[in-house]
Amino acid sequence: MTTVIDGQKLALEIRSEVAERVGRLRSRTPKLVVVIVGDDAASRIYIRGKRRACERAGLVSEQIDLPAETAESELLSRIFALNRDPEVHGILVQLPLPPGLDPYAVARAIDPAKDVDCLHPENVGRLVQGNAHIKPCTAAGVIEILDRHDVPIEGSRAVVIGRSEIVGKPLALLLLHRHATVTVCHSRTRDLPEIARSAEILIAAVGRPRMVEGSWIKDGAAVIDVGQNRLEEGLVGDVDFDAAVARASLITPVPGGVGPLTIAMLLRNTIEAYEQIESAARSA
Ligand code: GUN
Repeated sequence: MTTVIDGQKLALEIRSEVAERVGRLRSRTPKLVVVIVGDDAASRIYIRGKRRACERAGLVSEQIDLPAETAESELLSRIFALNRDPEVHGILVQLPLPPGLDPYAVARAIDPAKDVDCLHPENVGRLVQGNAHIKPCTAAGVIEILDRHDVPIEGSRAVVIGRSEIVGKPLALLLLHRHATVTVCHSRTRDLPEIARSAEILIAAVGRPRMVEGSWIKDGAAVIDVGQNRLEEGLVGDVDFDAAVARASLITPVPGGVGPLTIAMLLRNTIEAYEQIESAARSA
């Protein structure tokens, strides 16, 4: 029997754990600020979901909308102001940014303590060293799915298809720190189907609709589909779900698999950032 992950249900569990933590706070309420530049339609859908989830968990959320032609210096000075604001505990600048704005410069501008995306080089460095205090939301959500379904990671062969800064690279690191044997594949990888077939944990995060075929799946593998491809027929993943489901022991659908976990982990990161900032302020 294949387990088809209900990401919504899992996300609700995590969101209610966050809501309980927020409910126990006596002082300030954790606040997340999402900055969006330009009007990318998919980004707007994502951030609407993020705001709603924040409010339901009892977090304060604010959205800053900036026009696509915003100068980088203006964006950076908005971020510096958020860094200084003691009411703000989490800052997320939605990606992709319009052309002309450097996402690395933006990531460097965010106070590492408020970087709920884990994109600041200091936090990326901590992630590489295995002592991140905040982990990238989607990658952390994938680990949460595996852990909450008792998928063994230690000693397992994990194949990550995709090497993005936001998902592929951090996920490979998180799996490595959990003692998986990790292979990272990308567009220049030779013999991709054969490598994929060696995976006990197969993760697809490339953004190519249904690229992973059923024949690429090892019998009994855990298959995690991070793809979010918007086609005319709707949202589809990177895995050919109908073909893969017959072989996998566990699989995430698209939509309704990893996606809801990303938001839940963002809420968790915001309360973690809040707790660390407040405790540093108390001991200062
Ligand atoms: N755009 C798509 N996913 C993400 C994410 O995890 N963080 C940010 N900042 N932008 C995104």
